[in-house]
Formats: sequence, C-alpha cells, structure tokens
Amino acid sequence: MSQSTDSDTRVHRALRVLSGAAAHLTALTLTVSVTCVSQPGTSLFSWHPFLMTLAFSFLMTEAVLVFSPDSSLFRSLSRRAHVRTHWALQLLAVLCALLGLGIIYTNKMQQGKRHLSTWHGLLGTLTVLCALLQSLGGVSLLYPKLLQSWSLAQRKLYHATAGLLGYLLGCASLLLGMCSIWFSASVTGVSWYLCAMCPLLTGLVIMNQVSNAYLYRKKSQS
Ligand code: HEM
Repeated sequence: MSQSTDSDTRVHRALRVLSGAAAHLTALTLTVSVTCVSQPGTSLFSWHPFLMTLAFSFLMTEAVLVFSPDSSLFRSLSRRAHVRTHWALQLLAVLCALLGLGIIYTNKMQQGKRHLSTWHGLLGTLTVLCALLQSLGGVSLLYPKLLQSWSLAQRKLYHATAGLLGYLLGCASLLLGMCSIWFSASVTGVSWYLCAMCPLLTGLVIMNQVSNAYLYRKKSQS
C-alpha cells in the first residue's frame, strides 16, 4: 500500500516537473514566434503583439513559475530572492503591458479607427487594468504595514487567487489576439493551432501550481 503511494508521489512529481518544463518552453516559444511574425520595429503596430506576448506569455509565466517547487529556474535561491525575482519580473511585465496598450491606442488614433470595438480590445483593456491593480496588491505584501485590516495569510491567499484570475485573463486576451484578422492571416493551419495551444497549456500549468500551493492547501488546513 505504502509502496504504491510512494510510486504515486513519484509519478505525480515527475508529471509536475514535466508540465513545468513544458510551460517554460511554451512561454518562450510563443514569445519568439509572435516576435518573428510581428517583426517589432517595422511599424508602430508591430510593437503591440510583441510587447503583450513578452508581458503575458513570457514574463508573467516566469514570474509565477519562480515559486514552483518542481520547475523554478531559481530553485537554489532563498525565499527572499524568489520574492524579489517575482516582483521584478511582474514589474517588467506590467511596464511592457502598459507600453503595448499605449502603442495600440496611439496606432488606432493615427488610423482613425474606433477604440474597444472587439472582444480582444475589451478583454485586453480589462486584463491590463487587473494586472495594474494586482501589482498594487503585491506592494501591500511587500510593505504589510500599509494595509492592516487583513492578516498576512489572508492577503497572500487573495493575492494568489486574484493573480491567478488575472493570469487567466491574460491567456484569454492572448488567445483572442491570435483570433484577430491580422494574426490569423499571417499564421495559418497547424501553426495557428500550435500558437493557440500555448496560452491554454501555460494557463493549465499555472492554475495547477497556484491551486496546489494555496487554494487546496488552505482548504485542507482549515
Ligand atoms: C494579453 C495580451 C494582450 C492584451 C492585453 C491586448 C490588448 C489590446 C487592446 C486593449 C486592444 C484595443 C485597443 C483599442 O481599441 O484602442 C488591442 C488591439 C489589437 N491587438 Fe492586442 N492585446 C494583447 C495581445 C495581442 C496579441 C498576442 C496579438 C496578436 C497576435 C494582438 C493583436 C491585436 C490587434 C490586431 C489589435 C487591433 C484590432 C482590435 O482592436 O482587436 N494583441 N489589443
């Protein structure tokens, strides 16, 4: 009985390591692919898909995977260093997202196009707003004295839950961006499906990591 539990644990751990490695690879591959397609610098618009994919696919995925006990690239570092790496990557991601939003807004103004006229535009704006609010929430964890009405444990749980929702919103916005006329005309067939699967895969891995670390554990502890 205990032997089968041991091998279950080993199989689970191997699966977690594998899925974490797949998430690193997928986040990087999607960012490189979108960069190759959009060729940042060739037009004002070209910076938008590049910056948004860099922010939501690469930087945010890495910022969360920092805390993965199985697949963090920084496993040997202390908890303090993990926290620092997390907020530095998140800060970079939010800066890229704000720049990407500013660029698409300016581009649409220059072309006389209507704003927020697609589901991608609407969800994308909500996503950037959530990322901004989530970062402010993160500041309250760095400086706990700023907000004393909730305990530190409560704030960590809220930060993880809201962060997960924000991350999934980012995945949905990326997916909708890939459904845009521009992207689906540039990337077709199997390549399009492979790109579309990237945010789905990283979304599942991050959802599993955060729920294992916070949501399930907190429930079983209470
Ligand atoms: C999470 C990442 C992303 C966010 C938050 C985001 C956000 C936005 C927003 C807010 C707009 C509308 C701006 C306005 O109406 O003034 C927009 C437009 C656009 N985005 Fe993104 N974007 C993201 C990723 C992408 C990606 C990866 C692509 C391409 C692969 C893309 C392609 C486009 C295109 C073609 C438009 C113009 C057409 C439209 O408004 O839907 N975006 N984006």
